[in-house]
Amino acid sequence: MDNTLMLDSYKKLIDGNRRFSLSKKFEDPEYFKKLSLGQKPDYLWIGCSDSRVPANEVTSTESGEIFVHRNIANLVVHTDANLLSVLEYAVNVLKVKHVIVCGHYGCGGVRAAMGNTMHGFVDNWLRNIKDVYHKYETELDAIQDLDKRADRLTELNVVEQVRNLAKTVIVQKAWKERALHLHGWVYGINNGLITDLSVIHDEKEDIEPIYRFEM
Ligand code: CO
Repeated sequence: MDNTLMLDSYKKLIDGNRRFSLSKKFEDPEYFKKLSLGQKPDYLWIGCSDSRVPANEVTSTESGEIFVHRNIANLVVHTDANLLSVLEYAVNVLKVKHVIVCGHYGCGGVRAAMGNTMHGFVDNWLRNIKDVYHKYETELDAIQDLDKRADRLTELNVVEQVRNLAKTVIVQKAWKERALHLHGWVYGINNGLITDLSVIHDEKEDIEPIYRFEM
């Protein structure tokens, strides 16, 4: 790609932004004025960084409706300062009512974790998915088709990440005081549809005793 083309593809974003701003103001002259007063989203979305799974777009929601954290393969890692800061702010300050972990079929991170190829630093991150695989090894190894096996690992990964949320002090403290619902979803890149895995957790008793904090 030569320099002119590179500049053009970058400029596309600024042009798109101008159109966005104009059309929002056309629909509602007060749109940005209202947004600038503050945010009160009901949802925290923990999704994959994959460019094909934008939280607002796939749920037909507007700016201000979803607080978002994204990383490779939508992981909830109990030592991740970034994730924990987002979770704490969303739960304690914004007081979101729902935390959603949304994985997606065709996830490159999940697929990479299933193999034995070295990728670099990211292997430390993907190790969390390998641990999920190991936990469900018997079930996963029995699935011959690799795509189907990856799909199942994607679902199990979401289930485990929702459980990881339930294991945090942040979530358990919130449960003591109010209702907070944790959900696990998977998005299909091939059809644009979200499947609810029905792994709803809303109380401390939903996880094993060893992970429950006395408070
Ligand atoms: Co992904």
